[in-house]
Amino acid sequence: MCGIVGYLGKKQAYPILIKGLKRLEYRGYDSSGVAIMNGSVKLFKKKGKVKELENFVGNSDISGTIGIGHTRWATHGEPEDNNAHPHYSGNKRLVMIHNGIIENYASIKSALIELGHTFESDTDTEVFVHLIEEIQEKENLSIEEAVRKALKQVVGAYAIVVIDRLEPNKLVAARKSSPLVVGIGEGEFFIASDATPIIDSTNKVVYLDDEQIAVLNLEEGLKIMDIQKTIVTPTVKELSLRLEEIEKGGYEHFMLKEIHDQPRTIKESMRGRMNEDEGWLKLGGFEDHKDKFLNADRIIFVACGTSWHAALIAEYTIEKLARIPVEVEYASEFRYRDPIITERDVVIAISQSGETADTLAALEIAREKGAFLFGIVNTVGSSISRFTDAGAYIHAGPEIGVASTKAFTGQVTLVTLLALSMAKANGNITEDYFKSSLVELASVPGKISEALKYEEYIEDLSKNINQVNNALYLGRGANFPVALEGALKLKEISYIHAEGYPAAEMKHGPIALIDENMPIIVIATNRSAKEKIISNIQEVKARKGIVIAIVPENEPEIAEIADYTIPIPVCDELVAPLISTIPLQLLSYYIAIQRGCNVDQPRNLAKSVTVE
Ligand code: F6R
Repeated sequence: MCGIVGYLGKKQAYPILIKGLKRLEYRGYDSSGVAIMNGSVKLFKKKGKVKELENFVGNSDISGTIGIGHTRWATHGEPEDNNAHPHYSGNKRLVMIHNGIIENYASIKSALIELGHTFESDTDTEVFVHLIEEIQEKENLSIEEAVRKALKQVVGAYAIVVIDRLEPNKLVAARKSSPLVVGIGEGEFFIASDATPIIDSTNKVVYLDDEQIAVLNLEEGLKIMDIQKTIVTPTVKELSLRLEEIEKGGYEHFMLKEIHDQPRTIKESMRGRMNEDEGWLKLGGFEDHKDKFLNADRIIFVACGTSWHAALIAEYTIEKLARIPVEVEYASEFRYRDPIITERDVVIAISQSGETADTLAALEIAREKGAFLFGIVNTVGSSISRFTDAGAYIHAGPEIGVASTKAFTGQVTLVTLLALSMAKANGNITEDYFKSSLVELASVPGKISEALKYEEYIEDLSKNINQVNNALYLGRGANFPVALEGALKLKEISYIHAEGYPAAEMKHGPIALIDENMPIIVIATNRSAKEKIISNIQEVKARKGIVIAIVPENEPEIAEIADYTIPIPVCDELVAPLISTIPLQLLSYYIAIQRGCNVDQPRNLAKSVTVE
């Protein structure tokens, strides 16, 4: 959602904060702001991107070695200057940034108004900092103690950092359901929503847990306590993140870089977990808890958005190979519908960020009901990875483009490894099938590189359809979730309305939409259903729709009837979703570019959805 960064040390804070905010901008980009302490507080905030903030600050004096910065994704209050963070307390003694939502802010606000507080913004954050002020003033407390007491009164999600003008050598931070990481440098501290603003300065970090409060103090060091005031010994971890991973590396956009990164990231997902020459597969998280999986009544996936599409692919693959029943749930629905879960269920969360609020909440419910929890997560050290009983990291590296690309193919790789592991362990597949599947998987990075060679062709093709208002994506079997994912990519970055459908469902409704202006993207790689797909394409052509078919190379029959074909290398159906996704990503990217859209930061979206 929002991005948070703070600095306390001997260097000038402003350049560190601005650089950090630019790296965090993928988390929210409707307004941003900074506050620097230097005797008094200097506060600048502005609607728009971080660049607007920089222009606004211009040549103003913004010197100081302690400061906080924020980039916002609006929840309470429109993206306007007054709603941007940081926010002052009423007496201007405190200044605070916040990521999350305070659900009971309205009742707190009414109580504060009764006490004489007035507000300059529509945000829950301003209410929160006034509450801290009220408690601090009334009881004459240190800032950390006032924060601790205020946290007991708020309901919701928060990651906050507060400066107190009267305690100038200190930053106080706290989290619940929104991530915060402290960076420990030589005589300096950093605090941020993720490690990206920190990595050029230190690789020593401490991840805060829920309901923990961190006090960063140059003289006294780092102190962490929980909301009950129990002191917690910080666990210092070493970051393995590299600077190149969060830079564009010569590409125009992060999304394009991440699309091209996939041959490498998929190799990373498989590295050390399988060897096709020696014929083995060992997925650590699975091997250690094999019995839970093999004796499970059901495997239930919970996820959102693109990760939910990866879960749908898992349903096809696991049920087909391992014959274990699978259910796939939107985490946001699961959490509120009183689901039937037992101790014999395995609940698997799929998440790129590992911080999605709905997915975390779904896991909490599954834990209460005694299920075994497994995480397929990209972000190392994230909340979901820490909450689950076991898991497997995707190892795709930081994904900065807001539209998920390499994380999706990493997730699909992981669920395929999991399906094969289960099927091998319960004896549901032959040794020959197992070994040939490993060879197929190992060939995926090379085949993705081949698929990427059609980039120029796809760029040209997209010029013919970039002005449409609607698009339909069709696929059968595991290509149906690929169709959903293709449609989601197109709508989120190009703002074209797009829908994914199982190809055979078209005749039950969506066929009414088809005319000569409607592109229909058919993922036609399933050899087993080729005849049926050809019939679906014929139905579209009979209604003058524009057919773009993703086909295996050397597929003359479909090429003859489709308006355009985009070939992918011939591959087994098990891995086809991994490869057929690539042209869909490129198609969305080029259509969005040609429409002048900001592909890395699409309107209204944020990378990590840490609120409901
Ligand atoms: C789409 C996209 C979102 C996320 C969804 C879940 O490109 O990125 O739909 O997939 O918000 O996020 P994670 O995977 O971080 O839980």
